[in-house]
Amino acid sequence: MRRTVALLGATGSIGTQTLDVLRREPDAFELVAIAGGQRLAELAAIVNDFGVTRVGVVSEDDRRTLSDMVGAHVDIVVGSKGLSDLSTCADVIVNAVVGFAGLPVTLGALKSGRRLALANKESLIAAAPLVAQVRNTPGAQILPIDSEHCAIHQCLAGSSSEAGHPDVRRLLLTASGGPFRGWSKARLAEVTKSDALKHPTWSMGPKITIDSSTLMNKGLEVLEASALFGIEAERVDIVVHPQSIVHSMVEYVDGAVIAQLSQPDMRLPIAYCIGSPERLAHGWGRLDFTQSFSLDFEAPDREVFGALDLAYEAARRGGAAPAWLSAANEVAVDAFLNDQISWSGIVPLVEEVMDQYEDDPLDSLESLFANDANARRLAHGMVTH
Ligand SMILES: NC(=O)c1ccc[n+]([C@@H]2O[C@H](COP(=O)([O-])OP(=O)(O)OC[C@H]3O[C@@H](n4cnc5c(N)ncnc54)[C@H](OP(=O)(O)O)[C@@H]3O)[C@@H](O)[C@H]2O)c1
Repeated sequence: MRRTVALLGATGSIGTQTLDVLRREPDAFELVAIAGGQRLAELAAIVNDFGVTRVGVVSEDDRRTLSDMVGAHVDIVVGSKGLSDLSTCADVIVNAVVGFAGLPVTLGALKSGRRLALANKESLIAAAPLVAQVRNTPGAQILPIDSEHCAIHQCLAGSSSEAGHPDVRRLLLTASGGPFRGWSKARLAEVTKSDALKHPTWSMGPKITIDSSTLMNKGLEVLEASALFGIEAERVDIVVHPQSIVHSMVEYVDGAVIAQLSQPDMRLPIAYCIGSPERLAHGWGRLDFTQSFSLDFEAPDREVFGALDLAYEAARRGGAAPAWLSAANEVAVDAFLNDQISWSGIVPLVEEVMDQYEDDPLDSLESLFANDANARRLAHGMVTH
């Protein structure tokens, strides 16, 4: 039987790569719903290409514009309520929205007992205590698309099913190191937008590309791993691995290290998440072990890349601290992309917001929205100051 798929964030980097996977497997998957933000012409093209009948857009204006493009037979829903509705309408819900806007997808899919193929790390990080309340809904399952977490998910197969994985010493998240690996603070002061938008090994959307350049992405991934696998952040270490071939590793208490290797191609984790337990036989670029190649590993420079310490501190404080970190970072990255602050101003701005965080246990959705709004208000104030 064909598995139905809803792809929310269909026009972005993960979205278009997911479409590529679906195109190669027309007998296995049926795309039934999509959503996007500003790129309405791209949404209309996907509707026509895949015969999708349900679409989510951001505003009423967008709904009217898109309806003119695709015709009245397509059901178009609006805003976060629309995203929430679409998150219950398929066997697999791919959350490829960027930022906190992806929250209704994560919560909607889990509450309705669906498989959530999760690229949108920000929702899990911000709402970890709330996600924990709904992820045991019968049928609900999170499979991580983020390549590092997808790797760890695979390396944990066979690990103890006891909470907290007592047979695991630590998770090792690999990091390419971004475009500025080895740079001094003085050199980093000169970074331009085009420097920061050039990732050495991955082609991704603008927000995660900037997050990768500051290493905030790796900090967010520590929080993501801790929430996903129920392992405290002190047992999640970061290893810089410039080739991006080892996607992450698990070190067990007996010293054995299990790693997952492949070419850096996001279609592999995407296919794993929507196809599991089957593996789709495409091979997204194989490794050639007849040719010699090197795999290098080194420690990250936490002195120069301060985002890592901010993330570990947010994990230590728990509650709404990760939501503050993620919200402040979204505002700072947006400000950088809009030429309002410099690259080297991003992490200090987030740090300044975090200095004002007061402990909050984050026990309701209302509290999450209030915390998110507070962190954003403070961050915006610092941008315009
Ligand atoms: N790209 C990667 O290789 C990669 C790897 C690991 C994890 N991730 C994670 O995956 C997520 C997506 O990243 P990306 O690189 O694919 O970003 P992206 O290229 O910027 O795409 C983001 C998508 O979200 C849509 N969107 C934005 N706001 C929306 C809203 N309010 N409602 C509905 N849709 C909205 C965008 O629509 P429009 O474009 O139409 O505005 C677009 O389809 C992020 O959380 C990122 O951290 C990405």
